[in-house]
Amino acid sequence: MHVVDVIHAKRDSHRLTDEQIDWVIAAYTRGDVADEQMASLAMAILLNGMDAAEISRWTQAMIDSGEVLSLGDVGRPLVDKHSTGGVGDKITLPLAPLVAACGAAVPQLSGRGLGHTGGTLDKLESIPGWRASLSLEEIAAQLADIGAVICATTPTLAPADRKLYALRDVTGTVESIPLIASSIMSKKIAEGTSGLVLDVKVGSGAFMKSLDRARELAETMVAIGGGHGLATTALLTDMSVPLGRAVGNALEVAESVDVLRGGGPADVVDLTVALAREMLALAGITDVDPAKVLASGEAYPVWERMIAAQGGDPTAALPTAKHVENVVADRSGVIAGIDALGVGVAAWRLGAGRARKEDAVQAAAGALLLVDIGESVEAGQPLLELHTDTQDAVAGARAALEGALLITDEPAERAQLLIDAVRS
Ligand code: URA
Repeated sequence: MHVVDVIHAKRDSHRLTDEQIDWVIAAYTRGDVADEQMASLAMAILLNGMDAAEISRWTQAMIDSGEVLSLGDVGRPLVDKHSTGGVGDKITLPLAPLVAACGAAVPQLSGRGLGHTGGTLDKLESIPGWRASLSLEEIAAQLADIGAVICATTPTLAPADRKLYALRDVTGTVESIPLIASSIMSKKIAEGTSGLVLDVKVGSGAFMKSLDRARELAETMVAIGGGHGLATTALLTDMSVPLGRAVGNALEVAESVDVLRGGGPADVVDLTVALAREMLALAGITDVDPAKVLASGEAYPVWERMIAAQGGDPTAALPTAKHVENVVADRSGVIAGIDALGVGVAAWRLGAGRARKEDAVQAAAGALLLVDIGESVEAGQPLLELHTDTQDAVAGARAALEGALLITDEPAERAQLLIDAVRS
């Protein structure tokens, strides 16, 4: 087998054979296929696509590049969720303890953020003492004891995806449905969960900007799950505005704690409950209402135990930024739009995200919205707070927000949050 033949085949829009797929993934993982060759193949896949059978085989080859985790019997049904990534998307933080409080076990193996979408581990690392890396034994013990774990993926889980994702990120090959779907599903199947709920984001702040593309991604992932014996449901949800008011690591932890105590912004509560319902349905738990459990604050003690089990102090004060500045309204009117991408890029430039994998993030950096769509504002009224430890970053953040906060004279409403569901 020669890698150039595989690249030629996809460049010329042919199907890749099972043998070609198995070989190229294994050889790339071993280091026998060079990054530039894999980048070329990824670009050919992005441009010419793969059919359902190719995607399924590609996913299996990525699973086979590492180990399938065996969490054993943790005494409850295992069910997980994955979001395709968005701005202010802190839902995993309240969701995992909520679903555990309702009787299932959530093994949430997460990543760090890159670009304008934040990473769950970066958010939790703003909690003093919290540790992301756990051994397989620690994960299984915490699931049996508390029912929820949010931690870093283990190095042995789909290592082909780890390499390929980093390569795609710097070669303009992220936005390919076959590559995104196989990347996400290989990790989730290898994690050994028995049910999976996907939150597929649509809109300016998401990878998928149009509903048609998001639906195709959702259907592709649900089909891969079905083909690999993993019960999978996908919700299509709006990402044209940030989720909640807080965007940035410690700011999002604080908002998640509000939600776990029975408060918090309505959109964060609604999405947390909608995803919890789907997860509980896949876990066969039908006699508990997650909306009531969340509103009662019963999930909060699970959060405290989950954080403490990983060395974190859930009662410690969260870091605060050295500089806080306002963005104010340039006219009076009604807030008609809050562009998710603009706010996400602003938070990222303030230090909440990283440009390169090796960069550090600022725990306290980010943006805090003070208004919502449909609210009337006066000229000069503060709309958004910018939080950062590096004052020089503020100008770039303000530039990213140019035109992001739209004020009109007409009444305005938020776009519908829950757009559709795709079930197997
Ligand atoms: N998240 C992933 O894990 N992989 C992708 O390709 C895109 C988003």
